Amino acid sequence: MSEQWASRGLDFHLRIEPEHGRRGGLEQALRAAIRDGRLAPGDRLPSSRALAGELGLARGTVSQVYEQLTAEGDLTAQPRSGTRVAPQPGRSRGPVLPPVPSFRPPVDGFDLRSGLPDLSLFPRRQWLAAIRRVLQELPHAALGYGDPTGCVELREALADYLGRARGVLTTADHVVVCAGYTHALRLICQTVARDASTIAFEEPTLLDYPALAAKTGLRVNHLAVDGAGLSVDDLTDEGAVVVTPAHQFPLGVTLSSRRRGRLVSWARRHGSVIVEDDYDGEFRYDRQPVGALQGLAPEHVVYAGTVSKTIAPALRIAWLVLPTSLVGPIRETLRLEETYVNLLDQLVLARLIRSGELDRHLRRCRSRYRRRRDDLARALAAGLPQARMEGIAAGLHAVLRLPGTAADEPELLAHLARNRVHVDGLSAFYRQPPADGLGVIVGYATPPQHAYDGAVRALVTAAASAGLG
Ligand SMILES: Cc1ncc(COP(=O)(O)O)c(C=O)c1O
Repeated sequence: MSEQWASRGLDFHLRIEPEHGRRGGLEQALRAAIRDGRLAPGDRLPSSRALAGELGLARGTVSQVYEQLTAEGDLTAQPRSGTRVAPQPGRSRGPVLPPVPSFRPPVDGFDLRSGLPDLSLFPRRQWLAAIRRVLQELPHAALGYGDPTGCVELREALADYLGRARGVLTTADHVVVCAGYTHALRLICQTVARDASTIAFEEPTLLDYPALAAKTGLRVNHLAVDGAGLSVDDLTDEGAVVVTPAHQFPLGVTLSSRRRGRLVSWARRHGSVIVEDDYDGEFRYDRQPVGALQGLAPEHVVYAGTVSKTIAPALRIAWLVLPTSLVGPIRETLRLEETYVNLLDQLVLARLIRSGELDRHLRRCRSRYRRRRDDLARALAAGLPQARMEGIAAGLHAVLRLPGTAADEPELLAHLARNRVHVDGLSAFYRQPPADGLGVIVGYATPPQHAYDGAVRALVTAAASAGLG
């Protein structure tokens, strides 16, 4: 058997079995490629001369095979268009395999689910200008294996930016770049699990995060959240606690300054780690931004940030700012696992930070989201006077409290979906949702601008028609 790559024009792999002879072997190999979907309807085959040269066959042999398969209907031959795989009704590209579900299927209608910024705000022009400059200036040598903790240009830019914008106290050596917050959290959990057995999370939270921690072998404690944030006094001897102090996810409350102090004292007393998830810290509307907890105790807090809310989740760029004691272990893990972010994207982000473009972009986003939040509040006051909006001093989502109990939630979500409105139910963020309240999360940043007013109108109308007005 010989396996060959025909490499003029499109590359494709042909498995030619010698026992069928030259002509028979090629015929079989082409039929098999078409049957398996490796060659799809419309694909153009190399010229008989090119394929013959590639496979070491006589040109006439290849021509005879093409003619044979054309006569049988597998190929078509058109003047100037060459020989192509014939159309096969109902057949799509690729082999026929069972379908795989997508992670976040798109919804039909108005998408007000939480978790996304307005992706139409992606700074395409600025990104394009920056990538041009990066490619013009990048020496060839920089395209080898880079620093698994992130390139120094981005780590330095982040250290300066986070100090200036979020009150984080750090140096570039304490910053590591990760492929999204989830990756960052896994690194932390793996490291904590070496010396400790338990980690605490807020309840409610995105339940994937405690599930991820449990996969690293940690036992998970879930601690309640009230109007002042995490119930810090319920912490015991956990090795770490994960908090969202600036804007609790999803309730939107801010961790009070008294509790910040008590949290830091607890970490000092137990030698524990506080993981500060500052997922939307750049978006504060009503007051001065709430600074990072990390600034109070840089040697006890791991600060985590991401571009998923400020630019786009697709970039998969996040960062950790580490206490000195964790730098070595995390560096070593990153060196071994080699999961790191594309260097070109890192350099572009560093340039956007240094040039002030990121700040300008954030100002544009902030003013758009604040307007959206205010429009939502007005529409709810007018059309759903019994609803209460919470957690709206910051971020990209609001908690909408409605008359009813948690037991009404599935019916409400189904009613909204029938009216083409998609929001998250609050109970999805609890292991045990409190029975007494009915709430949904409205991701007001998610729709593109042209769809926003319609989405808000549809939400209010549909909720009112469910008898909640
Ligand atoms: C609470 C919270 N933390 C962090 C993130 C960011 O995650 P990532 O950087 O993996 O996109 C999100 C995104 O939805 C979030 O909701």
